[in-house]
Amino acid sequence: MQSWKWNRKKPPVFPLLVLILLFFIAFSTLHSEHIIQRIHENPDHVHNHQEVSSATFVKPNLSGHLKQAAEVLDRFSRCNSTVEYNGRKVAWLGDSQHSGHWSARPESCDVFSGKWVFDNVSHPLYNESDCPYMSDQLACHKHGRSDLGYQYWRWQPHNCNLKRWNVKEMWEKLRGKRLMFVGDSLNRGQWISMVCLLQSVIPADKRSMSPNAHLTIFRAEEYNATVEFLWAPLLVESNSDDPVNHRLDERIIRPDTVLRHASLWENADILVFNTYLWWRQGPVKLLWTAEENGACEELDGHGAMELAMGAWADWVSSKVDPLMKRVFFVTMSPTHLWSREWKPGSKGNCYGEKDPIDLEGYWGSGSDLPTMSTVEKILRHLNSKVSVINITQLSEYRKDGHPSIFRKFWEPLRPEQLSNPPSYSDCIHWCLPGVPDVWNELLFHFL
Ligand SMILES: *[C@@H]1O[C@H](CO)[C@@H](O)[C@H](O)[C@H]1NC(C)=O
Ligand SMILES: *[C@@H]1O[C@H](CO)[C@@H](O)[C@H](O)[C@H]1NC(C)=O
Ligand SMILES: *[C@@H]1O[C@H](CO)[C@@H](O)[C@H](O)[C@H]1NC(C)=O
Ligand SMILES: *[C@@H]1O[C@H](CO)[C@@H](O)[C@H](O)[C@H]1NC(C)=O
Ligand SMILES: *[C@@H]1O[C@H](CO)[C@@H](O)[C@H](O)[C@H]1NC(C)=O
Ligand SMILES: *[C@@H]1O[C@H](CO)[C@@H](O)[C@H](O)[C@H]1NC(C)=O
Repeated sequence: MQSWKWNRKKPPVFPLLVLILLFFIAFSTLHSEHIIQRIHENPDHVHNHQEVSSATFVKPNLSGHLKQAAEVLDRFSRCNSTVEYNGRKVAWLGDSQHSGHWSARPESCDVFSGKWVFDNVSHPLYNESDCPYMSDQLACHKHGRSDLGYQYWRWQPHNCNLKRWNVKEMWEKLRGKRLMFVGDSLNRGQWISMVCLLQSVIPADKRSMSPNAHLTIFRAEEYNATVEFLWAPLLVESNSDDPVNHRLDERIIRPDTVLRHASLWENADILVFNTYLWWRQGPVKLLWTAEENGACEELDGHGAMELAMGAWADWVSSKVDPLMKRVFFVTMSPTHLWSREWKPGSKGNCYGEKDPIDLEGYWGSGSDLPTMSTVEKILRHLNSKVSVINITQLSEYRKDGHPSIFRKFWEPLRPEQLSNPPSYSDCIHWCLPGVPDVWNELLFHFL
């Protein structure tokens, strides 16, 4: 478990302000061209952000597309030097407005609060073997899972009903449009689920899938519509932007630019974003656009995620017209790595789990609360432009929904692994049909 340095110490306000002022003066001479400086008017920020130099703000560059190929990060990118994070923040449009509260939804029912109901009549919404676009990482039945209970659960909100999934109605909503999922492998799972949900009513010769790459596109001719997936696990530009050849040991991001990805997603009509797990793997290196010599800073994953979401939020608040474009953000997908969290005293993980957790409000360590509150804080400001698909609590209950050992693994498994199945179980992704289908039913509900 990681502990976040972020919120630990609470220095008195007066010396903090003096320090902020000093750093403000120092940085305003250092980075006069690229950096917008301002001391944040909002006193909340003085309390929330303990970094003394939080006075320095960088405005993400949203004009034009990245042209200089040499500057693009890839798996060969290296930092020439690394120093500790100096406190620069990403300034974004919505942040200064301090819009405060969520506007009241027209409907008062919270569809994310509810319970799982066993329902083998209405679910699954499609058969695993009927979907030609199924991934071998998610096809659990094909890879030997014999208990199929995980496919039969329906999400029942406490105070209302979810809109019933209707494939024709969904296609009508998508007619002439581009629906694009942007994010990591969890988001890709949701995209595959959506393609499987949608493809059955399109004749085989009237649909196509482009080869697996940075941007994968499912097309349905008759509706002139596409359902696409863009690999961007950290949202901002990073050295992990190749879906296959990326580095896991040293993550480098450009915290102030989403341009490389935004140029691909900006023309989509409906966007579904996620980002979470890639920020949970230790420190991240920051390469600010203003640094030309590969001089990086290092920051913990939580802080780096806040910067990246700030750059993304800047894009949303300056480029999204809610009348023309729908934007969704899918909250973090929980993992089930420690069975002791739902079964005290046990030593396993999700391996062998066949039923959901029925303890209302169950919350394990797979969903990080500080991350959730950071995300909530940012999304609150984007309230009028982004709809939240809050899948975290409902997915927390589904310890039975992961592939565990029933998927294709890319590395050959060693004998000692094979003799101890929990040691190589995948308790992060989700079997299909399964939990991500419900995330898409929620998307359908709000579309
Ligand atoms: C933003 O990026 C474009 C394209 O790379 C560049 O021409 C422009 O100078 C940049 N603007 C700023 C303020 O850095
Ligand atoms: C649904 O579940 C019930 C109770 O477990 C079982 O009796 C029934 O045969 C199942 N129906 C189908 C179609 O699987
Ligand atoms: C899945 O397959 C079974 C048996 O082949 C069939 O009865 C059922 O209707 C199928 N379900 C869907 C959603 O297509
Ligand atoms: C198909 O949709 C695109 C937008 O995604 C639009 O530009 C184009 O005109 C449409 N074509 C037809 C034939 O409707
Ligand atoms: C690292 O420094 C060398 C020499 O100063 C320079 O040529 C190179 O471009 C730098 N690397 C990066 C990633 O900027
Ligand atoms: C999602 O729901 C949880 C409660 O289940 C809540 O604590 C959290 O703030 C919500 N997240 C967002 C981004 O709204």
